[in-house]
Amino acid sequence: MDELTVCTANAYPIYFRSSYDDLQEAFWNRGLEATKRCIVTDSNVAPLYLDKVQNILRGVEPFIFEAGEARKHMGTLADMYSHFLANKLDRRKSVIVALGGGVTGDLAGFAAATYMRGIRYVQLPTSLLAQVDSSVGGKTAIDFEGVKNLVGAFYQPEFVYINTDTLHTLPQQEFISGLGEVVKHGLIASPDYYRYVSKNRNAILALEKSALMEIVAGSCRIKANVVESDERESGPREVLNFGHCVGHAIESLSGYSLPHGHCVAIGMSAALFWSQKLGHITEAERAEALDLLTALGLPTTVSDTEYTLEEILSFMQKDKKNQSDALRLVRLKGVGQAYTDNTIPHEVVLEAVASIYQKKP
Ligand SMILES: NC(=O)c1ccc[n+]([C@@H]2O[C@H](COP(=O)([O-])OP(=O)(O)OC[C@H]3O[C@@H](n4cnc5c(N)ncnc54)[C@H](O)[C@@H]3O)[C@@H](O)[C@H]2O)c1
Ligand SMILES: [Zn+2]
Repeated sequence: MDELTVCTANAYPIYFRSSYDDLQEAFWNRGLEATKRCIVTDSNVAPLYLDKVQNILRGVEPFIFEAGEARKHMGTLADMYSHFLANKLDRRKSVIVALGGGVTGDLAGFAAATYMRGIRYVQLPTSLLAQVDSSVGGKTAIDFEGVKNLVGAFYQPEFVYINTDTLHTLPQQEFISGLGEVVKHGLIASPDYYRYVSKNRNAILALEKSALMEIVAGSCRIKANVVESDERESGPREVLNFGHCVGHAIESLSGYSLPHGHCVAIGMSAALFWSQKLGHITEAERAEALDLLTALGLPTTVSDTEYTLEEILSFMQKDKKNQSDALRLVRLKGVGQAYTDNTIPHEVVLEAVASIYQKKP
């Protein structure tokens, strides 16, 4: 597959390529050929891909910010507005081009959503997490006063253009982190995709072209399907949070030192436990999923010297997605299907979280 249409209120295409050769054509296809472009990118991605993309797009002066989640804040946003203004970007004729990982996409997307009440933007995701997750779905945001993604908007891009070749320069831990979301997509939505990932684990880790294309296109298809059914996250989209409740707790307790996908993998280990305990998957299916995560280089356990069970449980209770009394958790209904459940007994949750302190079965 080399193209997919995301059928949200504003339908848009995702292009899957292994170069930037068709980028100009993507602008033409969307009627954006005569636009003024401004690339937003970070200090790691700029030396690698900015010249190449700028040569194709011939945009105005690019906006480059210092790489890292720490810059996903109001200060960078304000600098971006100043830059857009100085370069006379306007709503009618201009397009913002987000070139980078999820931080770049979220920042540039939110700036695009708010500058002049909304200016068009496109996504050129370069990290695996951005290619399989954050560039699809139209969520944009910045962090505020230490709260992740507190200020944001749902705002869909004109198109997403994925060049999987960029994954060759991605630091290995960032790549492995992205694989956490890849496994999640298989577990919650597609037994076929899950089997593909499991069977081709070595090709994926070796960054083989066809394997990268398969996982990126497959994940985008799954995420697009979920998003299309629930663009503004009123319900069904919650299944994408599989592994994220415990995962967010670990991410926060680690002071964000452990990559997101690694935390989600540990969270999925707990979620696999409650899914099995409640009879929806077998012991063998849980063991197989844990084995896959481990083979991909992802953790499935923590040691009790890192954070206590109580710390994880108390974080889960106050996590923003769980404001009602009962915890809303995602559980599998067999491999390849998931749903949200707020009736999982407390003792099962407790046992599941305790299970991540144990060696895998
Ligand atoms: N909008 C959404 O739906 C959504 C979903 C999930 C995550 N997110 C957000 O995404 C962010 C995380 O995304 P991320 O993991 O991509 O972080 P990131 O953008 O910080 O990228 C990770 C690191 O890799 C570098 N990098 C990116 N592409 C590279 C490449 N091809 N070669 C070399 N280095 C490269 C970046 O400079 C950075 O240092 C978080 O802020 C998270 O909240 C958003
Ligand atoms: Zn995630």
